[in-house]
Amino acid sequence: MAYLRIKVNNTWHDIHSSEGTPAIDVIRGELGLMATKEGCREGDCGACAVLIGEYAASQLRYRALPSCLLAIGELKGKHLITLEGLIEGAQDGLTPVMRAFLDENASQCGFCTPGFIIALTSWLAEPKPLDLAGALQAIDGNLCRCTGYAAIRRAALRLIEQFKGLPIDPEARLNALVGVHVLPLSVSEFAAEISRQFSQNSIEKKNPQIAPKERITSNGIVILGGGTDYYVKNPEPGEDFSPFLIRMRPEFKEIAYLEEKGQKWLEIGAAVTVRDFFASELVRQEVPGIEQFETMFASTLIRNLATIGGNIVNASPVADITAMLLALDAELVISSQEEEGFGTSITARTCKLEEFFLGYKTIDLKPTEVIRAIRIPCCVDPKTRKFSFEKASKRKNLDIAAVNTAISFRIEEQRFKDVHISLGGVAPIPIVSKAAMELLEGSFCPISDGKTMAELAKKTASLAEASVKPISDVRGSEEYRRRMVYRLMLAHFVRLFEDSGVAEELFP
Ligand SMILES: Cc1cc2nc3c(=O)[nH]c(=O)nc-3n(C[C@H](O)[C@H](O)[C@H](O)COP(=O)(O)OP(=O)(O)OC[C@H]3O[C@@H](n4cnc5c(N)ncnc54)[C@H](O)[C@@H]3O)c2cc1C
Ligand code: FES
Ligand code: FES
Repeated sequence: MAYLRIKVNNTWHDIHSSEGTPAIDVIRGELGLMATKEGCREGDCGACAVLIGEYAASQLRYRALPSCLLAIGELKGKHLITLEGLIEGAQDGLTPVMRAFLDENASQCGFCTPGFIIALTSWLAEPKPLDLAGALQAIDGNLCRCTGYAAIRRAALRLIEQFKGLPIDPEARLNALVGVHVLPLSVSEFAAEISRQFSQNSIEKKNPQIAPKERITSNGIVILGGGTDYYVKNPEPGEDFSPFLIRMRPEFKEIAYLEEKGQKWLEIGAAVTVRDFFASELVRQEVPGIEQFETMFASTLIRNLATIGGNIVNASPVADITAMLLALDAELVISSQEEEGFGTSITARTCKLEEFFLGYKTIDLKPTEVIRAIRIPCCVDPKTRKFSFEKASKRKNLDIAAVNTAISFRIEEQRFKDVHISLGGVAPIPIVSKAAMELLEGSFCPISDGKTMAELAKKTASLAEASVKPISDVRGSEEYRRRMVYRLMLAHFVRLFEDSGVAEELFP
């Protein structure tokens, strides 16, 4: 039986459930903390959100995560705060976030309220200026079925007004929030305990249960990223479920530049979360504008947990990060467990992402292998890179695509260079459109001629459409998907060449 030490609210607990047990079952079952609610158990409603404190890049941070999709083993040495923990020490038994909900009548049956309170508390703890867009983004994974969102929006506006002067420095921000009882005193205690006892690395390295070798060599050990795909498929993984928790290994979480054989790469650890991927300065520098596509992926709660590697290995034909990485011509760094476990020292091989998908949900990865990192080839001057992502889905938030596509290229001496175009939802695997790429590669780029640009966009879109073989399913018919490929390709041109007048030519 696993044995984990976790700070839960203001007390360190020894948890006896196995590492792969969904955190919600431990919180409500083993710990008897019932404020955390179970709604969908699929990451869709946010009722189960909890606040997790951990060190990331040598900085203590608190983020909201969906406890229904979170392995309890992930919380080893971390700080778990539930609603019961938030109110410890709060004046009148309510934190200011709860008070705002009460004053604005933002809660009716109350089932969703703990999740909203946690998500908005996490938003206040982000070391960023406060605005309504940020607040709404923080709760984009929380559903309320009876109050309606107008009152919740008013509560958020009240909090913005109340806390607009919060410091931006991360440590000062947490201290300030403890001072005004938004966060409990246990946050300061946790910071002091952790800095006294261990550094971030020593927590992770000291932990004997993370050493994977014998556990992976014994058959059937599941590799877990964030678990946002795994737990949806396996909501009750069983009492003895003890996966290999990739997010607990620092070497899977780095983002850094490196040079190998004359090529410069941006290497992104497979356990980097979707949230950290889009937040990374290095990623933003290498792929200008990529951050605008973050909110097209799931919700803040899911992005806080889901990993880049998991998105690839799950091998969904409509995986969004995979579509983006295909257009960035990424390759995978694959480690083997042979000899030394999945250590960074062994890079068994690399594999182009384009060649990784062999058939529907079939990938080029042996049971003895794990994806350690993803590499994006660097541009000499990243400012010349143009990148766009488009996704057609029924809902704006929290929806999987019917069709998605990304494009990346450079303009050099007025010509398209290094063109890559990905398409998802139109074949059993995510694909690239070679014909459309070949048309653009080396072509003259009519940057100030909307009419010629529109002709080029239509030709590219036609070739992309001709290269797909979609099927009909619940997300869309074959015909719809073909048409979407055409339209989304035009949308790339409209987005990337806004000043050329191409939009007026295409959609007069
Ligand atoms: C509510 C909700 C909304 C979602 N919305 C979107 C969306 O908008 N777009 C989208 O693309 N996806 C979406 N997803 C799907 C999911 O969040 C993503 O695919 C996510 O990136 C998976 O990452 P993970 O770390 O959670 O994977 P996990 O569930 O941990 O793992 C997925 C699979 O990959 C394996 N694995 C994980 N990491 C590695 C590794 N490094 N090496 C080898 N094997 C590994 C696991 O064994 C498992 O088989 C959504 C999911 C939910 C629940
Ligand atoms: S129970 Fe709905 S997101 Fe977890
Ligand atoms: S208050 Fe009832 S679901 Fe939100």
